[in-house]
Amino acid sequence: MRSRFGTESSRHRCSMGRRTARFGPLLLLLLLPAAWGAGPSRPRELQVSARQAGQAARVALHYLNYRLGSPSALRALGQVRKARLKTIPGIGHKYYLQFTTEDYKSNQNVGTCLATVLYLKRKPRPAVNINCTYTKDQKQIQDNDYNFYKKMRQQTNPIIGKDIPDSYGNIEPSFEPVWALAVAGSSYVMWEKSTENLGYFMAQVKHVKQWISKDDVVDFDYSVMLHEIPTQEMISCHIRIIWTPDHPLKVKYFCLSENQWLESGEGSGTESGSTSGIYNER
Ligand SMILES: *[C@@H]1O[C@H](CO)[C@@H](O)[C@H](O)[C@H]1NC(C)=O
Repeated sequence: MRSRFGTESSRHRCSMGRRTARFGPLLLLLLLPAAWGAGPSRPRELQVSARQAGQAARVALHYLNYRLGSPSALRALGQVRKARLKTIPGIGHKYYLQFTTEDYKSNQNVGTCLATVLYLKRKPRPAVNINCTYTKDQKQIQDNDYNFYKKMRQQTNPIIGKDIPDSYGNIEPSFEPVWALAVAGSSYVMWEKSTENLGYFMAQVKHVKQWISKDDVVDFDYSVMLHEIPTQEMISCHIRIIWTPDHPLKVKYFCLSENQWLESGEGSGTESGSTSGIYNER
């Protein structure tokens, strides 16, 4: 990162040197502000309704939902309260955000988050730092996760399902946690794929199949449809999700878009592309 700054500023110095030799000190005065402007700028306020602000807040929540790896604690964006944007020349755009969150299922307000999201010019996935308050009962969350885990572990016949939710938007209650786990795992894919201008929602689980595992894990193969905005494109992803409560999710995926490009990747909850700092306080 430093060397890029170095290159930029030495290039400016060189070109200024040539010109000042010909046009004298007056031009030096005119050019100086432009050269200074090439340094990191101060963050500027954004409208909380700006599409990029909501987009960046959703990226931060994809990261949070993936990292917490808890199907019972999924959060969606409530309202953006504050948004600022800093342009870092040669590096990328950094968003500073404050927003409220809602429980994924009940839509009840469950707390506020402070987050930074840095879209790097050269790296694919945005770097996220997020701290949130959480008003939901943590014990209840843990119990729900553990009960789902126990039920899946006791399964002698693998769970198999399709079209969750169905075309009427309904989710059969027994498949609700299976779907929620797909959202948590897809959040990894959505975080990886997100850019400043492209966002993702998990639209539907097309197909799910459980692998009965001898290890103490819950293991699912999913086919999911991701909805890309604002292009409205549907992207089909195959995602393998391996889960144990209170452990990072293990995710492997490949995706195929309507334009037939293929992408793949994998995550284990130890990604270095992002700073740590998930705090859940009441
Ligand atoms: C989150 O909290 C940590 C530790 O207090 C702090 O270093 C970090 O800057 C915070 N992140 C945000 C986005 O506020």
